[in-house]
Amino acid sequence: MVSKNTMLAKLILAFLYVNTVLDYGESSYSALSDYHRKIRWMASIKASFISRNGAPPTPHSFSTAPVLASSRVHHAIEYGADPTGKLDSTNALEQAISDAFRSPVEGQLIQGVADLGGAQLHLNGGTYKISRPLCLPKTSGGNFMILGGSLTASPDFPTDRHLIELLPSSDSYLYEDITLKDLMIDSNFRGGGIAIVNSLRTVIDNCYISHFITNGILIQGSHETFVKNTFIGQHINIGGDHREKDFSGVGILIKGNDNVVTDVVVFSASIGIMIQGQANMLTGVHCYNKATRWGGTGIYIQAPGFTQTRIANSYFDFTGIIAEDPVQLHVTGSFFLGNAFILLKSIVGVAFGVNIVDNMFSGDYTGVPIVQLDQSNSPFTTIEQVIVDRNNARGMELKSTVARRSVWSNGTTWTVDFSQALLFPNLIKHVQYTLQAEASFPSHILRNISGNRVTVESLWPISATLHVTVDQSTVAYTL
Ligand SMILES: *[C@@H]1O[C@H](CO)[C@@H](O)[C@H](O)[C@H]1NC(C)=O
Ligand SMILES: *[C@@H]1O[C@H](CO)[C@@H](O)[C@H](O)[C@H]1NC(C)=O
Repeated sequence: MVSKNTMLAKLILAFLYVNTVLDYGESSYSALSDYHRKIRWMASIKASFISRNGAPPTPHSFSTAPVLASSRVHHAIEYGADPTGKLDSTNALEQAISDAFRSPVEGQLIQGVADLGGAQLHLNGGTYKISRPLCLPKTSGGNFMILGGSLTASPDFPTDRHLIELLPSSDSYLYEDITLKDLMIDSNFRGGGIAIVNSLRTVIDNCYISHFITNGILIQGSHETFVKNTFIGQHINIGGDHREKDFSGVGILIKGNDNVVTDVVVFSASIGIMIQGQANMLTGVHCYNKATRWGGTGIYIQAPGFTQTRIANSYFDFTGIIAEDPVQLHVTGSFFLGNAFILLKSIVGVAFGVNIVDNMFSGDYTGVPIVQLDQSNSPFTTIEQVIVDRNNARGMELKSTVARRSVWSNGTTWTVDFSQALLFPNLIKHVQYTLQAEASFPSHILRNISGNRVTVESLWPISATLHVTVDQSTVAYTL
């Protein structure tokens, strides 16, 4: 069977090769349609061969798309926008967006949102000065893109707005599948960069957002916003900037659910990413926005009691993570440099379903713990399914909710002190121990676990090693 198929494959390949050679030879004088017809025929032969081997045939289509009556790409310069950034281009750009929203409608995306059929505002690689936010029209629209140029706020731009705003007039979705791509957004220390409010499935891709005083990006009530391959910073720098202690603003403020931030650098802001919603996912984020010692925070998760946040494969560069009353928080595969750490901040004392696992921490040997607790409001009292384990630390103090240690003694008591290793003070919910002795069989018992110290006592003196494993979290299995 195998050899038969191999033979067949060789035959077909030889056949295709001959045909391709023929086609190249002919193409100089034969009509293009004839060429396409042959390619199509070859493809159908190949497809039928593949389908015989169990794989689905690849669809091939060479039909030309119907030509639009007029292009849906609206060029900024054709609307009289000034690509040198000298004159105000707000009106021209607004007109271009407005025309794009009048593009032939191809039906609807989600109910009530007109499909603009891939309409674009193309910025033609220019730099445009604007004095008002570029807003989408209050009519619905989706499948639209703004791309390819720079926007700068003029000195009279309103300080409480953003250069591009998806800001529907009501709570119902007006915008879906809007893409903002290949843009340089300079807020010129007037307001913020991009605001995505109550919008569905928005993409921000390959943008560089700087000089904001509020937020680089605001995502509010929006769903499935993808922010990717983007650089965000208030002041353009590469670390160690003399203005760092004065960095303000938030790189990305997420007040919504189900958004994704992927491969993003926040290089200057008081808080890199602030999360106030659920089920958001951050991956490949690099924060060096403002060092912890200057009061900065890389990622601040302010969704106490209902967190549902995943942070993976990210890089915290002298600035860390703060999570208030975390309930379902996952931090993994990340690198913390320069004493950067994770702070669990108690609001009413709940930590539930927290995984801080498989991260690397690097510090300057001044004894900074990798995970810390802020219990100034209230002590953590509900601690369940919290796992801090399998991290490694170099020049920082490893903290964990699971610990193992052995101690040798010649006598009647063995004590292992876990108070340095364990995250929560005076909390051991599970102990397992073994007393390893070479001679005799003494009776022994677990005496004490208070203060995160485990004491085992034997009935008579022996030389023995105590091995202990402790766990601070409970996992309730309900049958
Ligand atoms: C343990 O202590 C006893 C009594 O003090 C002593 O005789 C014995 O040699 C010690 N064993 C070890 C291994 O040190
Ligand atoms: C356990 O140890 C603590 C302090 O080390 C002590 O105060 C307490 O009385 C001990 N409990 C028992 C049952 O020995």
